Amino acid sequence: MKITDTMNINSEGRLQIGGCDAVTLAHKFGTPLYVLDEERVRAVCRDFYAVLKDKYPDSLVCYASKALSCKAVYKIVASEGLGADVVSEGELLTALGAGFNADTIYFHGNNKSDSELKLAVGSGVHAVVVDSLYEAGRLDAVCAAAGKRMRVLVRVNPGIDAHTHRFIQTTRVDSKFGFAIADGSALAAIGAILKTDNLDFTGLHCHIGSQIFELKPFKLAVDKMTDFIKTVATELNAGVSELNLGGGYGITYTDEDKPLKPSEYVDAIVEKLIDCIAEKALTPPRLIFEPGRSVVGEAGTTLYTVGAVKDIKKVKKYISVDGGMFENPRYALYEAKYEAMLANRALEKPVETVTVAGKCCESGDMLVKDAFLPKAEPGDILAVFSTGAYNYSMAGNYNRNRIPPMVLVKDGKADYIIRPQTYDELLSRDVCPERLEGDTD
Ligand code: LLP
Repeated sequence: MKITDTMNINSEGRLQIGGCDAVTLAHKFGTPLYVLDEERVRAVCRDFYAVLKDKYPDSLVCYASKALSCKAVYKIVASEGLGADVVSEGELLTALGAGFNADTIYFHGNNKSDSELKLAVGSGVHAVVVDSLYEAGRLDAVCAAAGKRMRVLVRVNPGIDAHTHRFIQTTRVDSKFGFAIADGSALAAIGAILKTDNLDFTGLHCHIGSQIFELKPFKLAVDKMTDFIKTVATELNAGVSELNLGGGYGITYTDEDKPLKPSEYVDAIVEKLIDCIAEKALTPPRLIFEPGRSVVGEAGTTLYTVGAVKDIKKVKKYISVDGGMFENPRYALYEAKYEAMLANRALEKPVETVTVAGKCCESGDMLVKDAFLPKAEPGDILAVFSTGAYNYSMAGNYNRNRIPPMVLVKDGKADYIIRPQTYDELLSRDVCPERLEGDTD
């Protein structure tokens, strides 16, 4: 269990987050409930800038909003001076709806639609991160039609094998993302973009993967990217004024995870970049970081109510909760590990290891494989930690379950930032063609 400045156990022996009693939250707002600790998000944003503002002022931290995209979070990160990475029309519209400054937004994606490109150009995002020549051609045409120009970063695959789950690695040679440096396609892509009428080649982007703890792959990426900046200058006589190094900084899900602080990752990367710039005699580019998970991950906690408890003697004990893969698919997708506690009995000694199962009709629908808990009873409130990133944003309505609401907690106050989904909303999208009407008579 992680005790932090904004998470503690109160005098009633209950978990408290952002000054709010978790059991009261569960009873007031219902479960499952996503809880987001505002101060924790803000503290991470500040820590990202802690080193940058002195060591590399020409920089921007962009929140990779795929981790958790909702208006309140865009507002919080913007107020801390962050830009944003968006990857779809939906994310861009949410950011703009929150009043986000378009000039601090980078538009990503390996298969952007025409309407996404039009929205990116029309809304004046800072740059589009181009992932294929097919996209570059269409973006050029969209700009021509709109009578506008667009800055372009080229997504480069530097070919780095970071140690993380293979589904969240992004720069192995067989990756679907970006143009490889190794086979010359990145250079060819820049050459082609330089020849377009409406695109301004502005810089390079890479993202080596997610939930990475080691510094080595990040430093290697800096080395390879700065080598490539030199190649671009020599071969194409083009300058790279922005270098976006993506995100990927690991967070704590369980005691096994030992991440560095954001400022420690940033410090090491900036040191390496400064060295490479000097060594390779480069003009310092504007530096962009793109963290997602580390900004919101540990600030999120999900609350559940314990239901059925099933003891398969000498095999396994399950406690089932009212959530599941529809609101947190990460175990089902990656066998992700989490830690949990009984929020209403936070001071009681754990006595048994159980598996926390969701309520979906799927054997793989687990939330926590090995949770060490006091003897759980129906009605207990279970808290699962570090659920702020890639939970709500990957939620769905499997088994027609409703996506839970989210509350933002701070100084003892809790407010909805995502209101509850209703069954009326769910059903309102169903339509029955007239020819089916007779069938039920
Ligand atoms: N930039 C780009 C281009 C990305 O693709 C990503 C994440 C990020 C930045 C942010 O990476 P982060 O700092 O969050 O590691 N659903 C998976 C994670 C997928 C990450 C996708 N890209 C999970 O639940 O672990």
